[in-house]
Amino acid sequence: MNAVLKPAVSAPDWVRHAKLIEWVHSIAAHTQPDRIYWCDGSQSEYDRLCGELVAAGTMRKLNDAKRPNSYLAWSDPSDVARVEDRTFICSENKEDAGPTNNWMAPTEMRATLDGLFAGCMRGRTMYVVPFSMGPLGSPIAHIGVELSDSPYVAVNMRIMTRMGRAVYDVLGADGEFVPCVHTVGKPLAAGDKDVPWPCNPTKYIVHFPETREIWSYGSGYGGNALLGKKCFALRIASTMGRQAAQRPSGSPGWLAEHMLVLGVTSPTGKKYHVAAAFPSACGKTNFAMLIPPAGFEGWKVTTIGDDIAWIKPGADGRLYAINPEAGYFGVAPGTNTLTNPNCMASLQRDVIFTNVALTDDGDVWWEGMEKETGGAPAHLIDWQGKDWTPEDGKAGRKAAHPNARFTVAATNNPALDAQWDDPAGVPIDAFIFGGRRSTVVPLVTEARNWVEGVYMAATMGSETTAAQAGATGVVRRDPFAMLPFAGYNMADYFQHWLNLGERLQASGAKLPKIFTTNWFRKGTEGEMSGKFIWPGYGENMRVLKWMIDRIEGTGGGSEHVFGISPRYEDLNWTGLPFSAQDFDKVTSIDRAAWQAELKLHEELFAQLAHRLPAQLPEVKAQIEARLAV
Ligand code: OXD
Ligand code: MN
Repeated sequence: MNAVLKPAVSAPDWVRHAKLIEWVHSIAAHTQPDRIYWCDGSQSEYDRLCGELVAAGTMRKLNDAKRPNSYLAWSDPSDVARVEDRTFICSENKEDAGPTNNWMAPTEMRATLDGLFAGCMRGRTMYVVPFSMGPLGSPIAHIGVELSDSPYVAVNMRIMTRMGRAVYDVLGADGEFVPCVHTVGKPLAAGDKDVPWPCNPTKYIVHFPETREIWSYGSGYGGNALLGKKCFALRIASTMGRQAAQRPSGSPGWLAEHMLVLGVTSPTGKKYHVAAAFPSACGKTNFAMLIPPAGFEGWKVTTIGDDIAWIKPGADGRLYAINPEAGYFGVAPGTNTLTNPNCMASLQRDVIFTNVALTDDGDVWWEGMEKETGGAPAHLIDWQGKDWTPEDGKAGRKAAHPNARFTVAATNNPALDAQWDDPAGVPIDAFIFGGRRSTVVPLVTEARNWVEGVYMAATMGSETTAAQAGATGVVRRDPFAMLPFAGYNMADYFQHWLNLGERLQASGAKLPKIFTTNWFRKGTEGEMSGKFIWPGYGENMRVLKWMIDRIEGTGGGSEHVFGISPRYEDLNWTGLPFSAQDFDKVTSIDRAAWQAELKLHEELFAQLAHRLPAQLPEVKAQIEARLAV
């Protein structure tokens, strides 16, 4: 059956959900696309849409001999990252969105969106993209349907989610779905020539948590446009997890977190699972695909997810995590066979690259690859389509945008965990919260209990990266690495974590341990001045192994004002020349710096004061008392 239909015509016969069909037609009536296309998720459809994107100049096909079945897109230079200042949580009550989210009254926002979306898809096709976050049909998965006038979004969604016809089988005639509407905001009048990357300087990324709707206007890039990711799997899902705890059923609810999930198997075959939250572009994908270094023979790390985890209590009271996504939308610059060999192996074929540079032989290149080859190619076309030579690089002009991305299926990953798609999820043994801080925060600290761990995660600070529009390198509080992703009041979010821990503990369950890490401390003198002291990447295994020792009760450590950190002798140093002096540089605690840091915690607490759980200032007072001694 031909899935291209005139707006007034009904859906293909494999869509049996009357309400969904009615919604699609009502959105089409308002946005007025020329055509409606119901995606079936097939390979032939993907290939055809990619072909159309190539013909339209949005993507180019890479050299098949070098990078089979792969494409490169260059965005408009104004549309390169998530736009946090244009992202809104429109709950009925402003206080429910909280002071860390942008808010507008739903009626006012709806009126604004009504105006913007009227006729916004003219001259374009509206793609109906059905997707499942989580394994199809799993009791922990949830379904969304994205209506988008961007074929680039449709093909990316096929990689990033379980997308296609089978979703309608799960939905049946009346299943629940999260409606997501996306437009690039650039209607075409008859005879208008399209541009390769249509978008609009006006942008709105809007969430209505009570009605679980997502509306996105004006951007075609990443999390602004692939609405299953940040908008659904984090902002809307985090509110769903908390709402579940507010129902009379007595459920403690669940968590939607900005976390990678990895499996780590010891030489004796014992397997552990760790979920780790790091802010955007701080190495989650690298950590999830880590290859243990020399000294860790027989250890294996496998990837369950690289960005988002949905975590639910199981019948045994333990917390189980699934990766709701099916692909990786990772940052390319900095990735190479030295920093992340598994990632580079994943990228050998079937990839959509966005905003990386093009080589003269039709392949891709980005900053960081010169570390493999000893230098950049003599000539490239940069992400803006301009000639580029290493001289330009020396002058500070990047060939790839710092937030350039790859979109690739999880199944391309050679380190994929056998349970990555298991509907039951994997039991979590430890949570890690990691900020990017050049000073102050030590390499690793274990919280002594759940409340102290929640405090550490809540007060996390991090230097901003290119993943968000705006200045990079600025320290901001990024609680739980969720600052841009919590779909409700951050203070209520802290409370939800505290309640969940309390409930599980009361039921006799063993809670995961909580750790914080900071791989990013920089030297202040001599050769190391301004350089990262800790080697990071695969060497992070040394810290991970210490965490496992702590879980097993065998690892040593010393207790200090915030928690427990390893002593030099508590880590395995085989194969890495890293002196006790250097270790001191990444673990030392500077009292004055911490007194200043606690003032910043105070600022966050003052901002959230209205609903802040009392336990958090109590933990702070205990730290202050210990610091004063
Ligand atoms: C991402 C992000 O794309 O966090 O994962 O920005
Ligand atoms: Mn992310």
